[in-house]
Amino acid sequence: MQRSQDWTSLRREFPTLDAKTYLNSCSLGLLSRRTRAAMDRFMDQWTELGAAAWYSDWMNEVAELRQGFASVINAGPDEIAIMPNISVALTSIASSLQLGEGDNVVTTALDFPTVPHQFHAKGGMGVETRVIQPRDKVEVDLEQFESAIDEHTKLVATSHVYFTSGFIQDVAAVTEIAHRHDTLAFIDDYQSTGQVPIDVKAQGIDMLASGGLKWLLGGTGVAYLYVRRDLIDQLEPTVTGWFGNRDQFEFNPNEMVFKEDAGRFEMGTPSVAAIFAGAEGLRIVNEIGPEAIRERTSELTQLLVSRLREEGFTLRCPEDAQRHASITMVEMEDPARMVEELMKRDFILDFRPGAVRISPYFYNTPDDIQAVVAAMTDVRNALEL
Ligand SMILES: Cc1ncc(COP(=O)(O)O)c(C=O)c1O
Repeated sequence: MQRSQDWTSLRREFPTLDAKTYLNSCSLGLLSRRTRAAMDRFMDQWTELGAAAWYSDWMNEVAELRQGFASVINAGPDEIAIMPNISVALTSIASSLQLGEGDNVVTTALDFPTVPHQFHAKGGMGVETRVIQPRDKVEVDLEQFESAIDEHTKLVATSHVYFTSGFIQDVAAVTEIAHRHDTLAFIDDYQSTGQVPIDVKAQGIDMLASGGLKWLLGGTGVAYLYVRRDLIDQLEPTVTGWFGNRDQFEFNPNEMVFKEDAGRFEMGTPSVAAIFAGAEGLRIVNEIGPEAIRERTSELTQLLVSRLREEGFTLRCPEDAQRHASITMVEMEDPARMVEELMKRDFILDFRPGAVRISPYFYNTPDDIQAVVAAMTDVRNALEL
């Protein structure tokens, strides 16, 4: 499949690459020429039509966005809510769980902090947040989920790919454990959708959130919430708004009747600029396909890992290449200094406490990988980092 991809012409879609070696897609995916054109279209419609653009074009773009995300994860568009970010998506789900005194939620120390924060903030309601501490900085053992969950667990909330280590977690297994304990699982797929294939039906996922910012090439302000069809009518959010109302355009203040599909989790008017960008990003990802993208990024990641090891760097990443997504952490004392020095040489990457983070995407090349490792080796030798 990959052999038929013309990666060089795809690369030309991303003008940033003309001037920079960009290796920070797990923070922000690049803006394509197509996405810029889509956003221009939005502005032209706003100028020419004003509010009439909602009916002529914008509603349709929202529908395409919903379908675009549904296609990437193998869901139906009726199972997708459009959200502004992951934190709001999780807030909506958390508000639907009727959490109270004595309940607990299980998550891990490797998950993005917005997940535990959501539930720590409910400590005053008597909700306990159980943060599993991993045995290393890379992954959590499935048995740790097994022993953290009990009969008071209302939710297991964890990532498909850990932002901290690039580890691809077996979310089907986590979901199965949750179900065996008669509870639900919420998957934070933000570091995964696009770069690692996911099939919510095959993997039995209950709820999943992701967004445009990173691997879906849609920029800021657009995120997605999937809720399994047969679960939707069991969840009534208490944080809500008129977009969640079944009869939204009847403007009835006297009652709240929720939409029957996942639209019930939506709250208010979305950012249409973000929707145009998000929809175009999804078109690009769907056209290439997450399987082909994974094949490409996996090759780049394996090259990166072996070149870094040859140069004597210490990595914090999964040993099994099958479990390693396109995020590689390189441990060092002063990662900020390394990133700053690399920036002077036109490399864009990032750091987290104690490690430089390198995250190539399909638009990167083996040459980019060779170049960044050579530059890191030079900087380390020159500055003794
Ligand atoms: C895995 C993961 N979840 C959530 C977030 C933050 O989500 P948001 O800012 O959309 O609430 C990030 C941000 O980088 C992330 O990497």
